[in-house]
Amino acid sequence: MTELKVDVPTLVAMKREGRKITMLTAYDHPTARILDKAGIDTLLVGDSAANVVLGYPDTLPITMDEMIVITRAVSRAAERAMVIGDMPFMSFQRSIPDAIENAGRFVKDGGATAVKLEGGGGVVDTVHAIVGAGIPVVGHLGLLPQSASMLGGYRVQGIEAGQARQILDDARRLEDAGAFMIVVECIPDRLGALLSRTVSVPIIGIGAGADCDGQVLVVHDILGIKSGFKPKFVKRFAEIGDEIARAASAFREEVASGAFPGPDHVFHMKDEEYDKLV
Ligand code: KIV
Repeated sequence: MTELKVDVPTLVAMKREGRKITMLTAYDHPTARILDKAGIDTLLVGDSAANVVLGYPDTLPITMDEMIVITRAVSRAAERAMVIGDMPFMSFQRSIPDAIENAGRFVKDGGATAVKLEGGGGVVDTVHAIVGAGIPVVGHLGLLPQSASMLGGYRVQGIEAGQARQILDDARRLEDAGAFMIVVECIPDRLGALLSRTVSVPIIGIGAGADCDGQVLVVHDILGIKSGFKPKFVKRFAEIGDEIARAASAFREEVASGAFPGPDHVFHMKDEEYDKLV
């Protein structure tokens, strides 16, 4: 029996019942299918696709068109998981009509159920307008990779009470604007716990401690497909990068030695047909 698709009420009920929500990033169809079958609740087509799979130095260059192609591939795979499209840099900052248009593209063209966008007080009106257009919105507070240069780089946010208070206030404003879930990135664990306790919508942490309502990580990070720097909050659950390297070396060696392809990997032609050729 196919399980029902995860929707907004499912996630709200999970928080109410104290069941942890899982989110992983996904950027391609086969991986998304595996994650969906593994029971991951939500697949975030993160703008981290920019650096994780497209080779850009950070998340800023990725375009709406690139995000839509990737989102469509993930949506085609997700039978149960909710697909969330991450609004890339400058897809929601110019104007509210522009933000609604781009959020709509994630749903209409990308097949996503919801969109995520980074920011606090400055995006509240935008969140309200997108929700008003009927598109579920996930907020994103704490470390905001799209604004890293303004935050002084990729550093933990909310360590001091003043900044932590700002994050709490922003979370409440996003909740009031209609966001149904909020991702919080790189904040102290006690702040993650306080947010989860005091905000009614699910709080999904990445580097925000164990007491959040759910957890998100970048799928390449949990799989051990390494890209250099490993943030403190990442746990590797596999070493697939090493396995890919091992398989590629074995392939190269077997091709060089003539061991591959072997008798099992070739197609045969009858002698009489071959004789007509030579
Ligand atoms: O783009 C992304 O992968 C994200 C996660 C870090 C939450 O926004």
